[in-house]
Amino acid sequence: LASEKTRIVVEKPLGHDLATAKTLNAQLSNGFKESQIYRIDHYLGKETVQNLMALRFANSLFEPLWNSKHIDHVQITVAEDIGVSGRRHYDQFGAMRDMVQNHLMQLLCLTAMEPPHKFEANAVRDEKLKVIKALEPITFKNIATHTVRGQYRGNNNSPSYLEDVDNQDSRTESFLALKTEIANWRWKGTPFYLRTGKRLQARMSEIAIMFKDVPHSIFNEQSSDFHGNALVIRLQPAEAITLHMTIKSPGPGGMRLREAQLDMSLHDQFKLSSAEMPDAYERLIMDVIRGNQTLFMRGDEVEAAWDWVDSILDAWDKSTQRPQQYAPGSSGPEDAMLMMQRDGRRWRDICL
Ligand code: BG6
Repeated sequence: LASEKTRIVVEKPLGHDLATAKTLNAQLSNGFKESQIYRIDHYLGKETVQNLMALRFANSLFEPLWNSKHIDHVQITVAEDIGVSGRRHYDQFGAMRDMVQNHLMQLLCLTAMEPPHKFEANAVRDEKLKVIKALEPITFKNIATHTVRGQYRGNNNSPSYLEDVDNQDSRTESFLALKTEIANWRWKGTPFYLRTGKRLQARMSEIAIMFKDVPHSIFNEQSSDFHGNALVIRLQPAEAITLHMTIKSPGPGGMRLREAQLDMSLHDQFKLSSAEMPDAYERLIMDVIRGNQTLFMRGDEVEAAWDWVDSILDAWDKSTQRPQQYAPGSSGPEDAMLMMQRDGRRWRDICL
């Protein structure tokens, strides 16, 4: 089957660590050129993920603000309400390998990358690769302050993580929160917080760009419910882009301020039902047929992501810390909240 015209689509796991990812890439390149290999990450096929690029690079409004001078921090959340039942092999992966090394890191790259000169496969992938290479390493020294692992407990209705994978000694995480920084001019000083987990409050994924507060408030703080602006790109369940603003509370009563939202729900705006929105895989498989690799990962990108992840996995191996238990239907372990609190910040609610 392997000819000059063949295209091969590869689905994760694209390795288990850097060494196995390199072996896989070498095996693939024995039979195929890089231009024939489509490493699929279905998060790149989601409507709002592609919209993130339109939002950033087809509007001049945000680019001047898209840096550490104006952005306090970024939160990327991929929360799921389901557990891992029926997927015992999950225990060999955990949230880091299953979700962060691929989906969340891809979201981070698209949020943080420099504008590519063209919306074209290698131009986009070059920029994503630069972001991954600029990620500050997390090592044994800062593992305790920069990562939080969790495992869901059971209750009357559902088994615990340990029961689901049938391994009472498991140290694999079904929840992971981490803090990372990007060491370049645009982002120095703006942390990116990533969080993903199973059996949480709701199935909800979003990228939240949290802007800095105004430098000085001219309003009476007592009468104000002040928040910095936030731009929230909601991937699921209902795709939307929302800008959180502070406005005057309507009506009499003086200058009272409150939060309001500029809302762009894709369904409302374009009158599209979910059934009319192609599934991420449909869209990506269409790209394979068209021969467009823009939304597929290049081999060097995957290896760079593993390189960064390997250092965290090594540090966990050396550490005696176990994943913290969290209640099913919650927003994860207590320590994940504390990680934010220590920085004077808080996670956004996981809600529909
Ligand atoms: C997969 C993971 O890649 O993504 C699963 O292996 C996860 O564990 C799934 O449930 C989530 O995808 P989505 O599109 O439902 O958010």
